[in-house]
Amino acid sequence: MNAIPQASAPGTVPGYVRNAKLIAWVERIAHLTQAEKVHWCDGSQEEYERLCQQLVDAGTFRRLDPVRRPNSYLACSDPSDVARVEDRTFICSVRREDAGPTNNWVDPAEMRALLQTGDKALFRGCMRGRTLYVVPFSMGPLGSPISHIGVELSDSPYVAVNMRLMTRMGRAVVELLGTDGDFVPCVHSVGAPLQPGQADVPWPCNAEHKYIVHYPETSEIWSYGSGYGGNALLGKKCFALRIASRMGRDQGWLAEHMLILGVTTPAGRKYHVAAAFPSACGKTNFAMLIPPASMPGWKITTLGDDIAWIKPRADGRMVAINPEAGYFGVAPGTNSETNPNCMRSLERDVIFTNVALTDDGDVWWEGMGPAPRHAIDWQGRDWTPEIAAATGAKAAHPNARFTVAATNNPALDPAWDDPAGVPIDAFVFGGRRSDTVPLVTEARNWLEGVYMAATMGSETTAAAAGKQGVVRRDPFAMLPFCGYHMGDYFRHWVDVEHKLQGESATLPHIFCVNWFRKGADGRFVWPGYGENARVLKWMIERIEGSAQGQDHFFGVSPRREDLDWAGLDFSAENYACVIEAGAADWRKELALHDELFARLAPRVPDELLAVRQALGANLED
Ligand code: OXD
Ligand code: MN
Repeated sequence: MNAIPQASAPGTVPGYVRNAKLIAWVERIAHLTQAEKVHWCDGSQEEYERLCQQLVDAGTFRRLDPVRRPNSYLACSDPSDVARVEDRTFICSVRREDAGPTNNWVDPAEMRALLQTGDKALFRGCMRGRTLYVVPFSMGPLGSPISHIGVELSDSPYVAVNMRLMTRMGRAVVELLGTDGDFVPCVHSVGAPLQPGQADVPWPCNAEHKYIVHYPETSEIWSYGSGYGGNALLGKKCFALRIASRMGRDQGWLAEHMLILGVTTPAGRKYHVAAAFPSACGKTNFAMLIPPASMPGWKITTLGDDIAWIKPRADGRMVAINPEAGYFGVAPGTNSETNPNCMRSLERDVIFTNVALTDDGDVWWEGMGPAPRHAIDWQGRDWTPEIAAATGAKAAHPNARFTVAATNNPALDPAWDDPAGVPIDAFVFGGRRSDTVPLVTEARNWLEGVYMAATMGSETTAAAAGKQGVVRRDPFAMLPFCGYHMGDYFRHWVDVEHKLQGESATLPHIFCVNWFRKGADGRFVWPGYGENARVLKWMIERIEGSAQGQDHFFGVSPRREDLDWAGLDFSAENYACVIEAGAADWRKELALHDELFARLAPRVPDELLAVRQALGANLED
């Protein structure tokens, strides 16, 4: 007899499911969507393999060469479904002003009519001919006081297998819910019902209608029309950031777009750093960084690469967990020089999406290493270096991704799954800026640090649909991910200073970095990647009180002699270029801060307006 649960007729529930609210909700959604079958995911390896085989049979997955890339698959999406769709993402709070001017808002009653309750509601019958997968998942270590549980109902088996790598998923989560445990309900459909006899396509989605919808007051997520990344893997941006940021505001904790890393010094002291960067600005690289050989004894370990949940502990420390259990990282640009730990993580057990397929059954992307003589590009077309030179065609989509379990990472921190979390010593904020913002600056106090993070700008990347390379304000790297009014979010951060209580109450230091300064020739000046360890070392030594720096109008930055240059030839001229904070640039920059604050008025905390005034005065001094 086959012990692996198969999809069954709606209404059939495995014996271990005892949560009445969950059972009733699944039944309701199966009825609304008219799903043909329901499959309760148990999260087992057998189930994963069976679903992957099913995806291979459906043409969604291609199994990669079992020797070159064991147990790995390639999926290529519909060319219209390749990134997060920020302009189709909605925060449907009861009051418009609670979503704030940086979020799209629709009245929740109107949205519910459009999606769920109206005669022509999009979710009505949207899973006809498909199986509804019930995907129970824990964001964070099972049973941790910092973790929260969600259940995603999706008609995409691609989502189910990705969620198994990205979260703690399956039967153990349902058992933890018991009879009356609570969960965040997440409903997802690719929006492509099948008529009887209609053949499916490899990447079903809805080209016309896409809605990524959040109801913050009831902590619900409804996503329609896309099968890609953060639009569809609802534990990630939708739950762990948009819904969780609002839960955190109400309950007194932080849900942040931050990697978490451990740094061990040569003396054996261990620190934890949480760092926020906008999408596709190298968070995964920073989280897996290997210090240069000239920094013996320094060790960096990964706790998370994208999201941190941070709660105050009774002793006054801020402790963090990574709510995720895997990485959904950007492939292009990743190679054994830029990120050796990542390349080792990708040796097996990976789902690749929108990279190129080589003739020997492996994957390739721009920036991975020498180009193959021939490959099939992410859209299924022939690709050669000659075609690329003539037409500019990319073998991999610039937002091509890998999905891999954290346990594949050779630099995984031993505490990555610790329910207690790790105490945070420093917050780092960084944007992608060709100019203006120096390599590193330490804030002189909490408020100035919050101001730096709040006013951060960054050049847009391929992670979101839309124009690339334009500078936009991206406060705390949370612009697309904050589930409520950004001004209230600033208030929440400002108030942390007064809320930490206990015998060890310590505010983390705050630093602001920029790895992306460009010279007059348009090339990056700072080598980045592993060399960023030099900056990290300076930060740790600032925390320990041993490193020097120079005070300037908005903080403290290292002089050239304050950094460790052993093994790196980086000229004084280049250093001057990356550390410069020119007055003319900053006059323009402060005017852009004013624009942001005007947009968020009247909810910008007075404390931040006061910092703005002081910085303006310092600059003119
Ligand atoms: C991501 C993003 O996928 O930020 O992590 O877009
Ligand atoms: Mn991200």
